[in-house]
Amino acid sequence: MGISEILDGKLTEKEVEIKGWVVTRRSSGGVQFLIVRDGSGMIQATVHKEDVAPQKFEDVDRLTQESSIIVKGIVKEDKRAPGGYEVRVKDLKIVHLAMPEYPLSKKSHGIDFLASLRHLWIRSPRQIAILKVRAEIIKACRDFLDENGFTSTDSPILTPSAVEGVATLFETPYFGDKAFLTQSGQLYVEATIAAFGKVYCFGPTFRAEKSKTPRHLTEFWMVEPEMAFYTFEDNLKLQEEMVTFTVKRVLEKRRRELEFLKRDLVPLRKVEPPFYRISYTEAVDKLQKAGYNIEWGEDLGAPHEKFISLQFEKPVFVHRYPAKAKAFYMQPDPENSQVVLCADLMAPEGYGEIIGGSERICDLKLLEKRIEEFGLPREAYEWYLDLRKYGAVPHSGFGLGIERTVMWICKLKHIRETIPFPRTITRIYP
Ligand code: 4AD
Ligand code: MG
Repeated sequence: MGISEILDGKLTEKEVEIKGWVVTRRSSGGVQFLIVRDGSGMIQATVHKEDVAPQKFEDVDRLTQESSIIVKGIVKEDKRAPGGYEVRVKDLKIVHLAMPEYPLSKKSHGIDFLASLRHLWIRSPRQIAILKVRAEIIKACRDFLDENGFTSTDSPILTPSAVEGVATLFETPYFGDKAFLTQSGQLYVEATIAAFGKVYCFGPTFRAEKSKTPRHLTEFWMVEPEMAFYTFEDNLKLQEEMVTFTVKRVLEKRRRELEFLKRDLVPLRKVEPPFYRISYTEAVDKLQKAGYNIEWGEDLGAPHEKFISLQFEKPVFVHRYPAKAKAFYMQPDPENSQVVLCADLMAPEGYGEIIGGSERICDLKLLEKRIEEFGLPREAYEWYLDLRKYGAVPHSGFGLGIERTVMWICKLKHIRETIPFPRTITRIYP
């Protein structure tokens, strides 16, 4: 039993017990009004002098913000109360009286101050709403994959080699040798497809990205499906379905949170397959015509992605990037070997890339050549080459960045609010 059930109208006139924290308190003419939070929601609890023992009423008067309490009372429908319900308190117990002057009690604070108190900041209603949406997105991705024949196989965090370029590797000593924090679980799910067919991993990934931008973290979470026998086209279809399923699930289960965040739901309701598609070459053409300084061959940057994303009211795949701008494992386009069978999915409303995916090289010789061309140490990839020696199949997969997806679905300006404890180039505390 929690506050969310009271707000759903399931407990009206019933006696309830709420275990939670005091968000605010005010008194007016012998009545104390508390806003209480229990993790499932927030509700007003009113304490009338005549309803409780005199000592209890005095206790309420001492309650500070963030004190933890247990209240018992009767649920009343009340149009004036936030959420439309209140609890008329019969009994109250203080579990812990919080120290006075809660550091975040003021209405507005600077972002650095909030970030350094993230361990307290996560209790605020806005952060709670965002992190509830995050949890729903993760659950939706997992449910979608679990219900569609995927087996979850976890990839290691400590690895001997790079997936997404040596420039962004975090290195750590490893018993006289060295190891790297994984940039992506992809190479390992490419191994598990031969055991399970369709698989995914979900876990933290690390990039020593020097970029200090509103959409880069050094530690972020990715869900990475990988499918045997899937073509490039099959891969895009799956992404459309998974993203659509996820958005619908959040609209259904986290309406209250999205409304609290004042998220415009209209653009989210438009998310339906098929998504738009344009080739990288067409994208560069559009960008150049719009006056952007970009040459064919360069990877798209944040402003480019934003521009492209704003042209479409649904997500758009930008496909077939130049081989040189992308990772070593991507399958060349049989119709033009300059480009690879990859696509980045751009979220609408200016958000840009939330998914990177591709068909993978399945030919041994070609993969060996690419490892060499990219200057990667072959020894570290011997096991990965083995996958092309024993039962190689065409296969494809993608990685959806959880934080980028939360940012878009909640329509946030900065990625730091999308994860409980963000890690960026300038912050590792708390
Ligand atoms: O495009 P990326 O680098 O693709 C891969 O890592 C592939 N190996 C995935 C695969 O095919 N299995 O990263 C995938 C996604 C991006 O689209 C973005 O959403 C997110 O991961 N991402 C980041 N999110 C936050 N901070 C960063 N520094 C990120 N880098 C990538
Ligand atoms: Mg990418």
